[in-house]
Amino acid sequence: MNLIHQNKIAVISGGLGDIGRATALEFARSGAHVALSDLYESSEAQGLLDKLEAQGVKAMYTKTDVAVAADVHQWLDEVESQLGLPSLIVANAATATLAGIHEVSTDQWDREIQVNLHGAFYMTQYATQRLVEAEKPGRVVFVGSWAGHAVHVQLPAYSVSKAAIRMLCQSMALELAPHQILVNEIAPGYVDAGLSGKIWADNPALKKDSAAKVPIQKLLSAADVGLQIVQLCHPDNVHMTGHAVVLDGGLSLIRP
Ligand SMILES: NC(=O)c1ccc[n+]([C@@H]2O[C@H](COP(=O)([O-])OP(=O)(O)OC[C@H]3O[C@@H](n4cnc5c(N)ncnc54)[C@H](O)[C@@H]3O)[C@@H](O)[C@H]2O)c1
Repeated sequence: MNLIHQNKIAVISGGLGDIGRATALEFARSGAHVALSDLYESSEAQGLLDKLEAQGVKAMYTKTDVAVAADVHQWLDEVESQLGLPSLIVANAATATLAGIHEVSTDQWDREIQVNLHGAFYMTQYATQRLVEAEKPGRVVFVGSWAGHAVHVQLPAYSVSKAAIRMLCQSMALELAPHQILVNEIAPGYVDAGLSGKIWADNPALKKDSAAKVPIQKLLSAADVGLQIVQLCHPDNVHMTGHAVVLDGGLSLIRP
């Protein structure tokens, strides 16, 4: 890839997860400096930071729970003082529980909405506020899910959080358009990694079943998603805002 994002700064929450790592590497290949956060200790990030720096960019990691607004703000302040003002903002952190409407506990429900929706809001609200104050353009990508676009069983809190992300994306896109901040969503289908990878590790039959449903007969890789996130931020993409790129191989086209 050519250096389409040279010297820009990308921030990615959930940056030590599979899609977060793939996105970070793709941004580094495109010339962006990269700041990551996740729940893990800093030592867990070192291998990835080394790989990013080997691409000739700066990279940093800050342990941050996106569910705590003050911590998210502190992380973004640190990024700005160490690397500069981020203009590529990827709200990626999420958690999911496989449990039906009557099985999901109130704690699980609260945590999923808190992390997946509120965490994404805390990050993007603060980061775009700083861009507006500095009168700089920028890009926001929410990592949603096809579960926010098509009804699923056994994923009520996750699906609701991802459906809410769609409206947050559209609200933010409309309000920030005059500031040249473009806001879009990537909604992956079945990814052979990350959250679904963990669920499938305990249930290979479910993986086979899920893969067989995909109309294009392929599962996504984390790298496929990372590449699309970086492409969505391409400087030539100057008009698309408030949209969802549904990367699901046709899954959400299926009607019973
Ligand atoms: N894997 C899939 O099939 C799939 C499909 C559609 C959408 N997605 C979305 O992709 C994104 C990345 O997920 P992934 O599949 O790479 O899973 P993953 O579990 O590998 O990555 C998610 C990361 O988020 C981090 N995280 C969770 N709670 C956090 C918190 N409170 N604060 C900070 N970090 C937190 C986790 O520690 C993890 O590293 C998520 O938004 C997910 O909903 C994944």
